[in-house]
Amino acid sequence: MIIHDYHNAAALLNQGQLVAIPTETVYGLAANGFDGNAIAQIYEVKNRPQFNPLILHSNSLERFKAWGIELPAAALKLAAAFSPGPITFVVPKSNWVPDIVTAGQSSVAIRIPNHALTLQLLSSLDFPLAAPSANLSGTVSPTTAQHVEEQLGEQIGAVLEGGECKIGLESSIVSFVNEQPQLLRLGGLSIEAIENVLGQKLDLSKLINNENPEAPGMLSKHYAPSIPLRIGIPADFYSTYAKSEIAFIGFQNAQADLLPQNQFILSPEGSIEEAAQKLFAALKMAEKCQVKIIVAESFPNQHLGRAINDRLSRAAKN
Ligand code: TXA
Ligand code: MG
Repeated sequence: MIIHDYHNAAALLNQGQLVAIPTETVYGLAANGFDGNAIAQIYEVKNRPQFNPLILHSNSLERFKAWGIELPAAALKLAAAFSPGPITFVVPKSNWVPDIVTAGQSSVAIRIPNHALTLQLLSSLDFPLAAPSANLSGTVSPTTAQHVEEQLGEQIGAVLEGGECKIGLESSIVSFVNEQPQLLRLGGLSIEAIENVLGQKLDLSKLINNENPEAPGMLSKHYAPSIPLRIGIPADFYSTYAKSEIAFIGFQNAQADLLPQNQFILSPEGSIEEAAQKLFAALKMAEKCQVKIIVAESFPNQHLGRAINDRLSRAAKN
């Protein structure tokens, strides 16, 4: 059920139900972050592995502080520049945080999402919201209320309508558990922007690492559409597939050889932000094209283009 009033969302959350909430990155599947039973339902509904910890969301750093969760100086610098916004901070947990949120780790991930309605909702609650992306584990994240309703509508209390997500990629995750800040996930805030404010290089050694225990959600196949996806068009491609069997996701230009209705051009004007915002919806539309394969272009590997390429390469894993 799609609802529009955050008071109704608050009432359901107070009863221990799950509500999908809009954020600027992707829709989240939220539960009372202090209620172990409510949180257990998130894992169940998403079919999420128990070892994959969740992000806690609230509306201010002061509230997290009241719950015993504090940011070190470097993180505060980033928060001053970018929070509310598409960045998640991994910091030491407090006793307020149930083990089911952190999957038993001694650190917790926190974020202040930049979405007016959700900030109102968060400030009306006495607890933070634990919220992973509101999709079945391993599938593409939702960027509209409709996406969530289609996949999970039957199984959850409600979806709070908050429009199309403005950023369209999940938050960038930075860990402050070690001396040098570590980027655990590429996301809606670029490496360049983060390093610029930090005045220091990020440790990138934990990124895109299949052995990575600190962002277990990043393991193996992720963000995968239901149709195989590959990056780039090899020379012999057209002898393997008929034109009607191929969907295409590109940055600025369509492919003259392919069917126009099976092509999703993310930003004809060449805006990487616009391309990021449209990526997941395009993957979902491509899935519905009744093709045998989705072919995606490689994006310029800087700023948000890096995060786009990251999601595409995960989608291409099988
Ligand atoms: O933009 C976002 O971050 C969205 C919206 C809803 O806020 N949420 C999101 O959640 O993408 P999820 O669960 O799909 O991804 C959270 C990632 C996972 O890869 C998880 O492993 C990592 O955050 N994570 C959570 N807690 C962690 C911790 N204590 N240490 C390291 N990584 C953590
Ligand atoms: Mg997710």
